[in-house]
Parts: sequence; C-alpha cells; structure tokens
Amino acid sequence: MSASAPTFADLIERARALVADGRRRVLLGVTGCPGAGKSTLVERMRATLAPAPPAGLAAQEWVAHVPMDGFHLADATLERLGLRARKGAQETFDAGGYLALLRRLRSDDEPVVYAPAFERNLEQPLAGAIAVPRAARLVLTEGNYLLVDDVEWLAVAAMLDEVWFCTLREDVRLDRLVARHVRFGKDPGAARRWVRDVDGPNAQLVAPTVHRADLVVPGAVLEGAVPEGADRPIGVGCRGER
Ligand SMILES: Nc1ncnc2c1ncn2[C@@H]1O[C@H](COP(=O)(O)OP(=O)(O)O)[C@@H](O)[C@H]1O
Ligand SMILES: [Mg+2]
Repeated sequence: MSASAPTFADLIERARALVADGRRRVLLGVTGCPGAGKSTLVERMRATLAPAPPAGLAAQEWVAHVPMDGFHLADATLERLGLRARKGAQETFDAGGYLALLRRLRSDDEPVVYAPAFERNLEQPLAGAIAVPRAARLVLTEGNYLLVDDVEWLAVAAMLDEVWFCTLREDVRLDRLVARHVRFGKDPGAARRWVRDVDGPNAQLVAPTVHRADLVVPGAVLEGAVPEGADRPIGVGCRGER
C-alpha cells in the first residue's frame, strides 16, 4: 500500500487485516472536517466489506457502522442549553454517551448493543436505530471530533484501534456541505451562512487533529463511486430526500 495515497481497495484490505480471525472486536474510527465524506466513505466500506467476511465470520453481520452523529443532543436540550444555533459543535454532542457505547462495544459481552442514528430529515438523533450484534467483529465509527485534544474525546480515541482522517479539497468540501444543507431544507443563503458561521469554526477545531491520525485518506478514494442514497439515515428508512 502506498503510504501517501491509499486507494479504496487499500482501505478495504487494511480494515480486513485489522480484524484478522475476528477473536477480538475491532473499533475503527474515521474522522475529518464536516462534509469531508466520512459517512459516505464508511457506508461504502461497510457495503463493500459486508458480503466478504474473513474466514469463519458471518457475512453481513460481521461489520457495523455506528455514527458519532447519533449522539447529537436533541433540539429541546440544545434550546435549554442555549446551544441551538451552534448545533454540530463539539459541545452539542453527548460525548459521554458515545464513550459509554464504545465501551460496551469494546467489552464485547452482550448479544446485541443498540446504537442511535442521526435522522437527517428530522435533524434529530434516533435511539435504538442500529443493532450491533455479537457477530459484528469490525465496528466502523465516524464523526468530527474523534481526535480532539479534550479529556472526554481523548477517552473516545483510546477506545479505537485506529483512526483515519478524511481530507478533501477545501472548495469541494464547502460546496458539498452547502449542497447537503440545501438538500435537507435550508435555503442557499442560510446554508452558506451556516457553513461559514457554524461549520467553519468546527472545521477549524478538527483540521489540526489530522496529525494524530493513523492514516490520512484522500477524497479521491471515492471519486466516481458514491453509492445511491449516500445520505440515507443509517439503519432506518428514509423519506423524500433528494
Ligand atoms: N465522492 C463524492 N462525490 C460526490 N459527492 C460526495 C462524495 N462523497 C461525499 N459526497 C457528498 O458530500 C456530502 C458530504 O459527505 P458526507 O459523507 O455526508 O460528509 P461527512 O460525513 O464527513 O460530513 C454528502 O452530501 C455526500 O453525499
Ligand atoms: Mg457525516
């Protein structure tokens, strides 16, 4: 594998190699700035890996996708805390809840662990939307803040076997982020302002964390290969997107 520019096939091979015989559950984190393509990459990896398990592991069930975005605080809570206008910032997530879930996944002693999803049409977390069965030997988890240098996020990072960092040309990232906000209901002006005023400072916090990553993933790994329904809420049905 080329250290400087891994391909998608390299990523698949590296993830499979981490799991080996599957005796130990592997937690692989993917991070990067908002809009860098974390959710898209992980969903594509899951879809590619699921039908092709290492020997002795259960097809489909052996790999799971657990998004940090499931730990968004509910809007009602954000209102109460005066954080509604900063939704998506570090302090608008239940980092302790995410850590507790990762600990349960790491303990690997329950028949099933349920994880919350983030429902993009509602823009709200949805408890119990994702079932992680005991057979899940590779858990892919992704979000903005996995490598942030704060006590609770450092505890998150300590739960993970590796963390990969998605990079993307800044103009492309900003265009995709605006387009995603528009697709999920913001008017173009409001979307651009949100990307500048809310997502912008979040990206500034995340960008320098790249130096702590085990692997840097270039945006080109997914060029021309975005699956249909890439923004589909994980593990739940979806209504009317696109
Ligand atoms: N290779 C790609 N080509 C075109 N659009 C993409 C590609 N990868 C991701 N996207 C789109 O860009 C937006 C941001 O990607 P997403 O995976 O949601 O980023 P993140 O999870 O890092 O915030 C989404 O709307 C997604 O569908
Ligand atoms: Mg995402």
